[in-house]
Amino acid sequence: MKHYLQFSDLTADEYDYLLSRAALIKKKFKNYEKHHTLSDRTLAMIFEKASTRTRVSFEAGMYQLGGSVVHLTTGDSQLGRSEPIEDSARVISRMTDLVMIRTFGQDKIESFAAHSRVPVINGLTNEFHPCQILADIFTFIEHRGPIAGKVVAWVGDGNNMANTWLQAADLLGFTVHVSTPGGYEVDEKLAFNGKTPREGCYKVFKDPLEACKGADLVTTDVWTSMGYEAENAVRMKAFADWCVDLDMMQAAKPEAVFMHCLPAHRGEEVTAEVIDGPQSVVWDEAENRMHVQKALMEFLLLGQQAD
Ligand code: CP
Ligand code: NVA
Repeated sequence: MKHYLQFSDLTADEYDYLLSRAALIKKKFKNYEKHHTLSDRTLAMIFEKASTRTRVSFEAGMYQLGGSVVHLTTGDSQLGRSEPIEDSARVISRMTDLVMIRTFGQDKIESFAAHSRVPVINGLTNEFHPCQILADIFTFIEHRGPIAGKVVAWVGDGNNMANTWLQAADLLGFTVHVSTPGGYEVDEKLAFNGKTPREGCYKVFKDPLEACKGADLVTTDVWTSMGYEAENAVRMKAFADWCVDLDMMQAAKPEAVFMHCLPAHRGEEVTAEVIDGPQSVVWDEAENRMHVQKALMEFLLLGQQAD
């Protein structure tokens, strides 16, 4: 049984399969063709933080695969009344076939997985957001072809998205140029679980404009992630120079695309001109969450499919 708790949980070959399977699943969806590979299967979705895209993409995706979903939050389940995570895992995984969790610490999802009878998917933790990076890579390939050898500029917080980009670069052979304000750097140990990453898979830049030079993809995220709201005022000041603007996009390659996992704050981490401009692929990126997650759920439950 496989879980998907971090990007590094799958191999490069498995990603090759998933990305091509997601393309097939997307094509069938666009043609209104049925793809009921998970009929009678149930996905439990546990949200301890807010969500729009993750909820809609998993819920709609599971129905489109012929299955059904159960939606739980901290507030409306015993999770919010201190039932141990291990007990919750034992119970929920006896009644469902697959579990998606959005929570705070990675340790929480790991404890759940360790006590689960069924595969567990990370729908975002403080440390990682693997489903989003899977969608981002799928979107890049759709627009620009293979990502190996390309440069991704990460401008902003050294957060869950940044850590996951680093894992993906290590595994899939591209480079991430990282530029964060001082005090918000990526933590290499955390991003790579203490392992030494592939030489040159990421480079750190003080100046965000320098990080964008020659990039094939420029991407950013909110300055204050969920769970860090108390730091908001301090972060607004610290991140003021890390707003992706037209100068940064012009420093990148002419064919560079802009991505943002959303939700976005125009005028903070990105200008309206960039996110609403011709290089932005954010709406495809959001939609693709559903297609790649359908491929992922199918893969975790059925393995690789021949047709
Ligand atoms: N990008 C993303 O995960 O969005 P939600 O927080 O809306 O799920
Ligand atoms: N880094 C953001 C991503 C939201 C999808 C957060 O964790 O809130």
